[in-house]
Amino acid sequence: MTTKNKSDKDFSIYFQPPSLTDAKKRGKEDIKVHYNFEIPEDMQQFGKDKYYLIQTYGCQMNEHDTETIMGLLEQMGYQATDDRRQADVILLNTCAVRENAEDKVFGELGHLKHLKAEKPSLVLGVCGCMSQEEAVVNRILQKHAFVDLIFGTHNIHRLPNLLKEAFYSKEMVIEVWSKEGDIVENLPKKREGIKAWVNIMYGCDKFCTYCIVPYTRGKERSRRPEDVLAEVRDLARQGFQEIMLLGQNVNAYGKDFDDIEYTFGDLMNDISKIDIPRVRFTTSHPRDFDDHLIEVLAKKGNLVEQIHLPVQSGSNEILKRMSRKYTREHYLELVAKIKNAIPDVGMTTDIIVGFPGETEEQFEDTLSLVKEVKFDSAYTFIYSPREGTPAADMDDDVPMEVKKSRLYRLNAVLAEFSKESNESFKGKVVDVLVEGESKNNSDVLAGRTRTNKLVHLVGPKELIGKIVPVRITDAQTWYIKGEWVPASAV
Ligand code: 5AD
Ligand code: SF4
Repeated sequence: MTTKNKSDKDFSIYFQPPSLTDAKKRGKEDIKVHYNFEIPEDMQQFGKDKYYLIQTYGCQMNEHDTETIMGLLEQMGYQATDDRRQADVILLNTCAVRENAEDKVFGELGHLKHLKAEKPSLVLGVCGCMSQEEAVVNRILQKHAFVDLIFGTHNIHRLPNLLKEAFYSKEMVIEVWSKEGDIVENLPKKREGIKAWVNIMYGCDKFCTYCIVPYTRGKERSRRPEDVLAEVRDLARQGFQEIMLLGQNVNAYGKDFDDIEYTFGDLMNDISKIDIPRVRFTTSHPRDFDDHLIEVLAKKGNLVEQIHLPVQSGSNEILKRMSRKYTREHYLELVAKIKNAIPDVGMTTDIIVGFPGETEEQFEDTLSLVKEVKFDSAYTFIYSPREGTPAADMDDDVPMEVKKSRLYRLNAVLAEFSKESNESFKGKVVDVLVEGESKNNSDVLAGRTRTNKLVHLVGPKELIGKIVPVRITDAQTWYIKGEWVPASAV
């Protein structure tokens, strides 16, 4: 725990910065699960008549952490606002996975500096993955000393205490634990709408050479099955229509249990018996995706036929240097097995172009893999060096212009397959979970198929929140169009 006086330049006396070297030493000690969380009594009214605003960057794990932070703040009496000037607490929940995500946060801090000058009582905090990086914390200390609070990904439950400290001490409060976190159950969560995220595990032990996540999120820790199942049952009782199970590498679920044999396939099998209409999961790692899981998914029911399976590259040499621990052939074999068991599966992926030293030929291997799998869609990225990761020290002779042009070429191929797959829906009647009005046209409703395709449909607003049959009439590149088929007409 650290409180640092903003005017003091000798930070090291007060502050043990987060250390990548420490993070790499994965401890074997038992993970402790805590069930007794409570907001300290003196903090339960701390936010009465006060407002908070949280800006979230990055992945769904971060979005879900924001729901926990909101839950904590609201139990302290705070209310949400969209108006920065009204806010008494502003938190930036940050992402470290690529440099441009970090740049956005530093840009935002530049803007918030003025707000803080106008309203000194404002508590301004930085949390999430960037806080776990030594270099980022040092930069905030040196260049953004107006920040009041920095906390990391392992100690969100400490927010009430930290906020109090930041409020009273008027000094920058920094609490970042570089040791892997325990699991804190029963934290409050503010969930809204018809879809809910459920963490099944935290952290990642894969250490892909380009990736910062194993350092910022700590070692793999699985939540106990009884805790996950109880949460899913509770969400079903509350009427949620869809849950998304979250983990950086869900296929490693349960590998850290030393008292029971219980895998991700077992968890999915147990969840399939719960009365919640749709269950998805993300993210999978091809190395750990086993036959038992495929068997369970093939039974379908509430386990929808969509699999996000990041491939990252189609070149064996690049996969090796990324330390992905599978080959192109293994990936293609796995996809074939999945498609054989679940023929109408929607496959999506993540791909990085311009990894250090990637040759034109190696990039073409990625293109050819994409053509072979025919993904429904993909998240594509230009490689971004992350300080402290092994890839950041690799020689990189690929000019940025070449990387950009590879991204462009890849996206063009992906767009073709997305359109082709969307065309195949024309004339079919599919179940769509109607999520709300379309972003650009309030006369049109937007929803998702079981395979996660975006659907724009014509129908009454009462359909929102329901799963209804929709006849697909038209296909665009990134979405399909249709019309509601009332049950009697199906
Ligand atoms: N540069 C570019 N993309 C990255 N990803 C992870 N680290 C990096 C990086 N350093 C991508 C991977 C991962 C997704 C969440 O982000 O494709 O699957
Ligand atoms: Fe990062 Fe690899 Fe872990 Fe995914 S599996 S979070 S890419 S280290």
